[in-house]
Amino acid sequence: MRTTTLGSKGPQVGVIGLGCMGMTHSYDMAARRDDATSVSVIHQALDLGMTLIDTADVYGPHTNEELVGRALAGGHRARAVLATKVGLITDSAPAASSGSTSPGAVRDGRPEHVRESIDGSLRRLGTDHVDLYQLHRVDPQVPLEETWGAMAETVAAGKARHIGLSEVTAGEIRRAQAVHPVTSVQSELSLWTRDALAEVLPYCQEQGIAFLPFSPLGRGFLTGRFSSFDDLPQDDFRRRLPRFQQDALRANLAIVGRVRQVAEQAGATPAQVALAWVLAQGQHVVPIPGTKTPKYLTDNAGAADIQLSAADLAELDALPAPQGTRY
Ligand SMILES: NC(=O)c1ccc[n+]([C@@H]2O[C@H](COP(=O)([O-])OP(=O)(O)OC[C@H]3O[C@@H](n4cnc5c(N)ncnc54)[C@H](OP(=O)(O)O)[C@@H]3O)[C@@H](O)[C@H]2O)c1
Repeated sequence: MRTTTLGSKGPQVGVIGLGCMGMTHSYDMAARRDDATSVSVIHQALDLGMTLIDTADVYGPHTNEELVGRALAGGHRARAVLATKVGLITDSAPAASSGSTSPGAVRDGRPEHVRESIDGSLRRLGTDHVDLYQLHRVDPQVPLEETWGAMAETVAAGKARHIGLSEVTAGEIRRAQAVHPVTSVQSELSLWTRDALAEVLPYCQEQGIAFLPFSPLGRGFLTGRFSSFDDLPQDDFRRRLPRFQQDALRANLAIVGRVRQVAEQAGATPAQVALAWVLAQGQHVVPIPGTKTPKYLTDNAGAADIQLSAADLAELDALPAPQGTRY
């Protein structure tokens, strides 16, 4: 796979990474959690050059880091650029009310929480450092400078090589930069969630900060997998999201129909088109599509080689806005 630098001073990574959240959290757990297959999907990703492996302490909580740690044992760690996150805590299953995929979660940006959490993450991941330590959400109760200062301490202590932010404004990135360099910003970006294009993505480009789109496949919707609310498994987090409610979902199928048409023109799959559009937003963009399914992983890796024509891009740029908010 083609590679790029993570931010101006970070490591080389494949231009598409792997999001591991759905392997133990949020999506379709009762029916489809299958750790052995997930471990092999992580190995397959490394073989394909999708080296940026993304997890978080809140996924599970903790089960996702444990799974990734098992996958990276036995020499695989050195092949990965390992990213995890801190700053959300939960002891409950996801619900759709507080602006994250772990919304039973509350934000905790206290410096002491960051200092304690890194050690737990390293233990679960079976490593002495992570390559990227990300602040999952800014805690409105704690000045960002204090939280970010504690994130910077993890770098000074050799426990993290680089630090990044998630779901922040350009103003928040600036404030963090005044304390310690920001290597990456992870926020939702896809054909049906484009808020970051206005300010955050161009600001990251200008500053040499990597932008890591999460949910780049619209939580699977843009791949054309779901045509009805009833297609979503009973315990699936997406059942609580506005865009997946029956009326909204039906209206949003118009978006998928047009993605399919572009895919046919481009000789690609809808997932590949969705990822190729995200990649076309800038050299600093490294999407982290999530999957626990070997054939989807191969499909997603293939997106790195899809060149969308100017006409295809224009058609995708002009897609209608979705019905329903993100959370
Ligand atoms: N920073 C944050 O706040 C935040 C929030 C959400 C997510 N994330 C990160 O971003 C990563 C990706 O986001 P996401 O998992 O929410 O959404 P996503 O990548 O947009 O979509 C994942 C869904 O798409 C399905 N899928 C993947 N590739 C496919 C393909 N080629 N064809 C058909 N279906 C396909 C997956 O199926 P299977 O799972 O069944 O294989 C899964 O249901 C997460 O794993 C996590 O690391 C971060």
